[in-house]
Amino acid sequence: MKLLKRIGLLLLLLAIAIQFVPVNRTNPALDPNQDYLKVSAAPAEVARLLKASCYDCHSNESKYPWYAYVAPVSFLTQNHIQEGRSKVNFSTWGNSSAHDQSEALEEIPETIAEGEMPLWDYKLMHPEAKLTEAEKRILIDWFNSGSQATGQTGGDKNHQEREDHDD
Ligand code: HEC
Repeated sequence: MKLLKRIGLLLLLLAIAIQFVPVNRTNPALDPNQDYLKVSAAPAEVARLLKASCYDCHSNESKYPWYAYVAPVSFLTQNHIQEGRSKVNFSTWGNSSAHDQSEALEEIPETIAEGEMPLWDYKLMHPEAKLTEAEKRILIDWFNSGSQATGQTGGDKNHQEREDHDD
């Protein structure tokens, strides 16, 4: 049918055209001394798990697989990374405010416990990022232990807030 052919051709042209929409995949410069894992002196196992499951979206060390170069997946990847970094960026931890740090420290174990993070579509493409129950436990215990002091100054201790707020 002629119409179907035309629609097909149009879609093909569209698929090609969107490849030319620029996507910024450069990682910002790194200062290793501000990295969460360094600042908190996290144990090796915690470091390994966070790097495998969270760092692609919550750090400036994102690794881009080949399909991150193909639109429209590239738009989605970029959006995840931008949004992820804006919520929690482990690479710039030492530079973030005590308030942001304590908020993140409170939310991180929650999102892990609820299976909200890492994002489900990411897990589809990155089976190695899936956390087993035991691995979740390790991370949750670490974040709840209060041993990962906030900030460089140590002024603001991991303050206790009501659990049921949502912001
Ligand atoms: C595929 C990218 C991706 C991965 C991997 C990922 N996140 Fe996220 N994360 C996001 C995005 C996007 C948001 C913001 C949107 C949302 O809250 O769903 C977010 C939000 C968050 C928030 C803020 C929650 C809130 O309600 O605002 C926390 C905390 C978080 N992530 C922790 C983690 C932890 C811990 C891991 C690893 C176990 C992880 N994320 C892995 C993309 C990711």
